[in-house]
Amino acid sequence: MVTLLAVESSCDESAAALLSIKAGEITVLAEEISSQVKLHEAYGGIVPELAAREHLKNLPLITDSVLNQGKIQLKDLTALAVTCGPGLKGCLLMGTNFVKGLALAYNLPVLGINHIEGHIFSCMLDNKELQPPFLALVVSGGHTEIQLVKEIGSYELIARTKDDAAGEAFDKSANLLGFTYPGGAKLAALADSTAKSRFSLPKVMRDSDGFSFSGLKTAIALLISKNKGEISANPSLRGEIAYAVQEAIVDALQFKLSKAIASTGVKKVAVSGGVSANLSLRARLKALPGAAVFFPTMAHCVDNAAMIGYAAALRWQAGERGDGDLIARARWPLER
Ligand code: KG4
Ligand code: ZN
Repeated sequence: MVTLLAVESSCDESAAALLSIKAGEITVLAEEISSQVKLHEAYGGIVPELAAREHLKNLPLITDSVLNQGKIQLKDLTALAVTCGPGLKGCLLMGTNFVKGLALAYNLPVLGINHIEGHIFSCMLDNKELQPPFLALVVSGGHTEIQLVKEIGSYELIARTKDDAAGEAFDKSANLLGFTYPGGAKLAALADSTAKSRFSLPKVMRDSDGFSFSGLKTAIALLISKNKGEISANPSLRGEIAYAVQEAIVDALQFKLSKAIASTGVKKVAVSGGVSANLSLRARLKALPGAAVFFPTMAHCVDNAAMIGYAAALRWQAGERGDGDLIARARWPLER
């Protein structure tokens, strides 16, 4: 049996997971996520230095915890895996250095994993019937892209955002509506409870190749500032604006994904990342005619280490033994 410890620290979640590979089957034995949302909330966004210090404090604790839950000692591990990028450099360094230390002390190989690859394979972790080739739509706070996944390690970029990510569009709109950071899920909950709107935002991204949320962001900011006075007099208007915002973002994602399905002819789709928890997006994409659309469980939409461990386990099964350099990379396009 192969036992693998995976660590994720690319943004504001410290996470560790313990996985096994037995008779070709990959199983998550234990996993922990320590979220820093409360810490950064007061600043209206992630403070990289604070995030890095939190990782330094949390990584040993959650690693101990998953080892205890799995009843496995460090000396019994077969290999380690860690997110090397993309993400916040200081945060990535905390994870890679922590894992390098364990690797040296216990003489273990380490697989450096791309965070986007982890998100993509979280769909396979939670839907064992999903196998490549498939299209992957990754929608998170930092990333929005569509990749054609041929097999583990082989990707073709179909579309990527030129500016903001879908999660950022949610969070920035939520902030304008008075929600604390990160407001994406709060805006979505308000939109879902409103379920209609007198407002409509422009249909964006119809003619361009990649994603771009800047035009929509301006339209949302204008809509909110124009109705500011009325929102305070009539709070239900806030819900109607939230509804229009969610509709516009979900519509753009659905449009781009439909276009990618049509241009590639690939009808299997894996949707992942924080925004894949959005219920309206899930309903709209599941209804795409002729497509089979897969999502991770809600717990695996946000950053987690089980997805990093799963991608590493697939790479291990493909013969990789972690002989590359462990370099923390703030930017690391998956297709390269
Ligand atoms: O994948 P993730 O945890 O972190 C990154 O890798 O960026 O994604 C976090 C993002 C945030 O922007 C958050 O507001 C958004 O996912 N998010 C949502 C929902 N839940 C989380 N956005 C819309 N609807 C949701 N239900
Ligand atoms: Zn992520």
